[in-house]
Amino acid sequence: MSRSQRVLPSALDAIGDTPLVELSRFTRGLQGRILAKLEYLNPGYSKKDRIALQIIEDAEADGRLRSGQTVVELTSGNTGTGLAIVCGVKGYPFVAVMSRGNTVERARMMAALGAEVVLVDQLPSSVPGQVSGGDLDLVEREAQRLVKEREAFRADQFRLQGNVRAHYLHTGPEILRQSGRTVRAYCDFVGTGGSFAGCAAAFKEDDPSIRCYLVEPAGAAVLAGEALTDPNHRIQGGGYAMPDHPLIRREHIDGYLQVSDEEAIRVARRLAREEGLFAGFSSGANVAAALHLLQTTCAGATVAVLLCDSGLKYLSTDLWP
Ligand SMILES: Cc1ncc(COP(=O)(O)O)c(C=O)c1O
Repeated sequence: MSRSQRVLPSALDAIGDTPLVELSRFTRGLQGRILAKLEYLNPGYSKKDRIALQIIEDAEADGRLRSGQTVVELTSGNTGTGLAIVCGVKGYPFVAVMSRGNTVERARMMAALGAEVVLVDQLPSSVPGQVSGGDLDLVEREAQRLVKEREAFRADQFRLQGNVRAHYLHTGPEILRQSGRTVRAYCDFVGTGGSFAGCAAAFKEDDPSIRCYLVEPAGAAVLAGEALTDPNHRIQGGGYAMPDHPLIRREHIDGYLQVSDEEAIRVARRLAREEGLFAGFSSGANVAAALHLLQTTCAGATVAVLLCDSGLKYLSTDLWP
């Protein structure tokens, strides 16, 4: 019996298996299709519920996480929300460490779900609402301090393979199945690189000719080898201009795409008005990149993207004027 036809034992069983929707209004007049995976329909309204569940269950399985042990992780809000849900249901205390540069909705949601939320001030040179790599370094330092102090398990999304495995085992195969294996290209805005790495691995394993593109903010495209000229972009959840992304396998990258704040915002607003899909900045960036692919190297192809999180998480920003 399919999931929608039965009672689920917990919210954890409602994670994943999200719908895949064709953006047919967006692609009118273009050759090709864009298929968008509605990750904002996960219980915590983002794709990060998937990795929270995988990281915790991997650590339970191999004994790195003990019964009742505290879990700590840094977050731009979404991983923390996923971990708050997973830890809440499974009975682990959870501490979320987040920059004050992320939106207040996220901190309030994590707290409502039972997390202890530790907010870290931004660097004096940073712009409120625009989290830079330097801001993230401060959050990392605080997370490390708390892990020591609480003898906690670090649900380290930048390093643990559970982040990749969640998308390799589930998100990627779901897209292949739902699309009838018609996807020819995939593009993804990079934070930890977990969803890129996992989906790309699943796609390449199915068909090595599926092209996988990294999406970065214009002005902070360091993975593409460009100089960092604008660390203070507005696309929350990624684009940290970090030199090292241990989860990403270089051989899975077929190309690099850059999206400006303005394009990400314009496309996120169009997604809401024209397609009825209420998502955030990075979802706008992913769809902007997919449109670019259809207008250039992937004309006529079917391109898959994730709509990473809900537009509700940005009500306090000017994404929605
Ligand atoms: C809204 C949003 N978009 C995109 C990303 C990037 O995803 P990943 O960490 O899998 O690269 C994140 C990560 O936190 C996010 O919260």
